[in-house]
Amino acid sequence: MSKLFTPIEIKGVKFRNRIVMSPMCQYSANEGYANHWHLVHYTTRAIGGVGAIIVEATAVSPEGRISLKDLGIYSDKHIEKLHEIVACVEEYGAVPGIQLAHAGRKAGVEVFLQPESEGEERPVAPSELRFSNRDPLPRSLNKKDIEKVKQDFKSASIRAIKAGFKVIEIHAAHGYLLHEFLSPLSNKRSDEYGGSFENRIRLLLEVVEGVNQAIEGRLPLFVRISATDWVKEGGWDLEQSIALVKILENKGVDVIDVSTGAIVPDVMIPSGPGYQLPFASSIKKSVEKILVGTVGLYTTALQGETILRNQDADFIFYGRELLRNPYFSLQAAQELNEEVEWPQQYTRSKTRHFRK
Ligand SMILES: Cc1cc2nc3c(=O)[nH]c(=O)nc-3n(C[C@H](O)[C@H](O)[C@H](O)COP(=O)(O)O)c2cc1C
Repeated sequence: MSKLFTPIEIKGVKFRNRIVMSPMCQYSANEGYANHWHLVHYTTRAIGGVGAIIVEATAVSPEGRISLKDLGIYSDKHIEKLHEIVACVEEYGAVPGIQLAHAGRKAGVEVFLQPESEGEERPVAPSELRFSNRDPLPRSLNKKDIEKVKQDFKSASIRAIKAGFKVIEIHAAHGYLLHEFLSPLSNKRSDEYGGSFENRIRLLLEVVEGVNQAIEGRLPLFVRISATDWVKEGGWDLEQSIALVKILENKGVDVIDVSTGAIVPDVMIPSGPGYQLPFASSIKKSVEKILVGTVGLYTTALQGETILRNQDADFIFYGRELLRNPYFSLQAAQELNEEVEWPQQYTRSKTRHFRK
């Protein structure tokens, strides 16, 4: 049997294969509500045979949105539409997951012109440092704000469970709020949330603890990190990522989803197929029980299969390939000579042979 189609079970949740749809913002929501686009988009990939779907970055608070079109999970009213997605994704055999996110200093300026932003006038961040010259100066979070962030992630997790999600992924990558705390490039605080490695990882650990409490440790918990800031000196790097993951694996995190970059603009990233794999693979070799996901320019079944065979990772996250081709997983199975169940409505299309 191929490795890509070997099922796996985590905390009682069964994944039919190792193909995960990577979270990808659709920028199609209104006031945070999911709509027909999201329902059709995610359901189609479930019909297309993926093992799990991590629904796009979903804001835990209005001020944590990248744009006004982000999905949100900051109100109980968001649950119903999300539940419809969950029900359809599950009906077609994929595990429904959701990425919980706070954009930090990358929150969109237009977000702060809305009444629900409760008087916030600018994005929040660990320190008053802009992402780039074109971005607004963020406000540094005080202790009370930090407590609110922790509570927002916790409340969002409770709503995610109510919506029926079976996986929660905490977004601690790509230069958004939790990554901003991890990286010395964006975190210049002098209190217990800044400075030393222990202090910079504190907020993420507290968020993980809060989410785990909310889900009572019963659901698979994923954390996405940027394993490097891609700067020569003074940034977050692989060594710190490994140290962090070793801690996370004893805090109830089941899967570390390894991405990279996006904390600062204008850095050279040697991008190409599998360019982020060395980070996932180094982390995999350094940990005991936590499972590892890899992502980044994967477009074929064979790439995923090879990575799994070499034990460089346990899950392959496919992003844009699944935007191009929702049926990628069904075709991947064929490429690897795996017999997987096709939607019975589509069985006549399984081969290209013309039958009269
Ligand atoms: C349209 C789009 C939206 C994205 N939104 C998110 C997101 O919500 N959360 C996240 O962690 N990554 C996001 N990403 C990054 C993808 O999850 C993935 O890591 C990246 O595209 C690399 O994988 P790929 O080469 O297979 O596309 C997004 C990427 C794209 C193309």
